[in-house]
Amino acid sequence: MNIILMGPPGAGKGTQAELIKARFPIPHISTGDIFRDAVNQGSELGQEAQKYMSSGQLVPDEITTAIVKERITQADCEQGFLLDGFPRTTAQAQALDQSLTELGKKIDLAVNIDVPTELLIERLSGRISCQECKRVYNLNFNPPREQGKCDSCGSELVQRNDDRGETVAKRLEVYSQQTRPLLQYYEAQGVLFNIEGSRGSNQVFADIQEKLESL
Ligand code: AP5
Ligand code: MG
Repeated sequence: MNIILMGPPGAGKGTQAELIKARFPIPHISTGDIFRDAVNQGSELGQEAQKYMSSGQLVPDEITTAIVKERITQADCEQGFLLDGFPRTTAQAQALDQSLTELGKKIDLAVNIDVPTELLIERLSGRISCQECKRVYNLNFNPPREQGKCDSCGSELVQRNDDRGETVAKRLEVYSQQTRPLLQYYEAQGVLFNIEGSRGSNQVFADIQEKLESL
């Protein structure tokens, strides 16, 4: 089962990915998490990615597609994968299709989580997440049991640098201009599944689960 999770910043892609992978054992590949880990490690990739992420811009397609291409050929992706935050441009979608064709695979479902902009901004301003296990929380909607500590692994919870005012506005703009048009790309392939994402995360997940079980 090869799945893409789509939707604007704050729609709940990471949140749904955690629920999906607990029920369906496929690897969760988040390009955002890959770049944030690289930034934290101070690697060459991290230094390059940081130039774009800090202002809410997309990391160049050549860098991003090469990472995903390499990742989806790894053995743990044989039974499927869950892409979160990729593809985000038409060039990325075309590169992904080309890699999949070479591997004799295809996308089975592109889940688009739709949430109104005001709610996205509210969610992003309250988000904190675990740098270790990547679990996502929200100070308003989904707080951890103990303040500042991850329920799953006990590590410290931090706010993302790109969740601050101006950068959030830029990310939302970049999404509308460069990523939203991709919905048509997957609609034309007959794999787009639109979902109303302003409900509670368990309700959203129930719809995704039903769809995945029907595949
Ligand atoms: P990335 O990490 O992918 O960020 P994003 O797309 O902006 O999405 P977010 O992670 O902000 O939101 P989400 O949908 O995962 O929401 P979450 O579940 O956390 O990318 C970051 C940057 O990396 C990009 O700007 C770019 O620079 C670079 N990058 C990444 N991929 C790239 C690519 N392919 N090409 C080029 N550059 C790339 O939820 C948000 C909050 O809401 C949380 O607090 C959560 O607890 C809460 N919440 C979630 N669901 C619900 C619910 N149903 N009810 C109430 N609260 C909820
Ligand atoms: Mg995310």
